[in-house]
Amino acid sequence: MKQTTGSPAAVVFTGAVRTYGRAGRTVRAVDGIDLSIGRGETVALLGRNGAGKSTTIGLLLGLDEPDSGSVRVLGRTAGQAVRAGLVGAMLQDGRPIQRVTVRELIAFVASTFPRPMPVAEALSLAGVQEYADRRIDKLSGGQTQRVRFAVALAGNPELIVLDEPTAALDVEARRMFWDSMRAYARRGNTVLFSTHYLEEADGNADRIVVIDRGRIVADGSGDAIRGSAGAGLVSFDLAGGPAAGLELLPGVVAVEVSGDRAVLHTDDSDATVVELARLGAIRGLQVSRATLEDAFLALTAPAAAHTERENV
Ligand SMILES: Nc1ncnc2c1ncn2[C@@H]1O[C@H](COP(=O)(O)OP(=O)(O)OP(=O)(O)O)[C@@H](O)[C@H]1O
Ligand SMILES: [Mg+2]
Repeated sequence: MKQTTGSPAAVVFTGAVRTYGRAGRTVRAVDGIDLSIGRGETVALLGRNGAGKSTTIGLLLGLDEPDSGSVRVLGRTAGQAVRAGLVGAMLQDGRPIQRVTVRELIAFVASTFPRPMPVAEALSLAGVQEYADRRIDKLSGGQTQRVRFAVALAGNPELIVLDEPTAALDVEARRMFWDSMRAYARRGNTVLFSTHYLEEADGNADRIVVIDRGRIVADGSGDAIRGSAGAGLVSFDLAGGPAAGLELLPGVVAVEVSGDRAVLHTDDSDATVVELARLGAIRGLQVSRATLEDAFLALTAPAAAHTERENV
């Protein structure tokens, strides 16, 4: 068991900002992130393309510095934590070196850490034993991905950071990957991973942090996130009627209009439906429970949709 009481949090972001570009054409890739991750937590980072996940991970690994605010990892700066061998990473665009075998690579990486995992254990935990003696440049994309996971584990770090770890994996490999990741987390380690697969976040993380345009827009369990954008969905045909004002209906927290169909995210489906009925807007009425995907889409609606909503 690792000691958890009294020791600093695994990860603390305080008002972290990272801006790219020059005056006039800047992107606030990370736009004021406050986040604390305790030791032993498994946290999923969810967000659309360009939301700021990889930039956040880059700050966490000390590959990049915040313009303002701070990032602390295991009570140190990110760079110090990485240099102390406390952090393992699997980057989105990482390419392991070629022309060596998987076993040679893992042995090399392990040798650079103060307290590495035995090589055989890293190979087995990442599920790469079958091709441990093959050259890395002869492996498939999915196999290479698993080797990158073995690289992240090799140093036996306290914190592993995985940027879209299952992006190239088939269904079976994905299941194996999550089994390995959970086994690693059960040893008391901390895991932060980003993904576009909502069900993977829901099934494998204790906590989901949704990031949108560089900011955290939701943070909690899958159930909490599902509820955060309205636990219920009420949809109906506008039948030429106005979409304006729908956000003012009782219970409604977000509105999406697609063609002639309105979808209302609501905290109180009953109250929303009663009011719609009173207004006579019940054509094609459907009521359902919001899924994580519904909540995610409502929380991260593209800029245009937000503006539309603000204007109605
Ligand atoms: N080196 C860079 N130079 C300029 N802009 C950058 C750079 N890296 C990222 N950005 C911009 O910062 C924003 C956040 O990018 P980031 O890579 O963090 O997103 P992401 O959430 O990881 O997306 P994806 O799901 O596509 O991997 C994007 O608008 C991106 O274009
Ligand atoms: Mg990314």
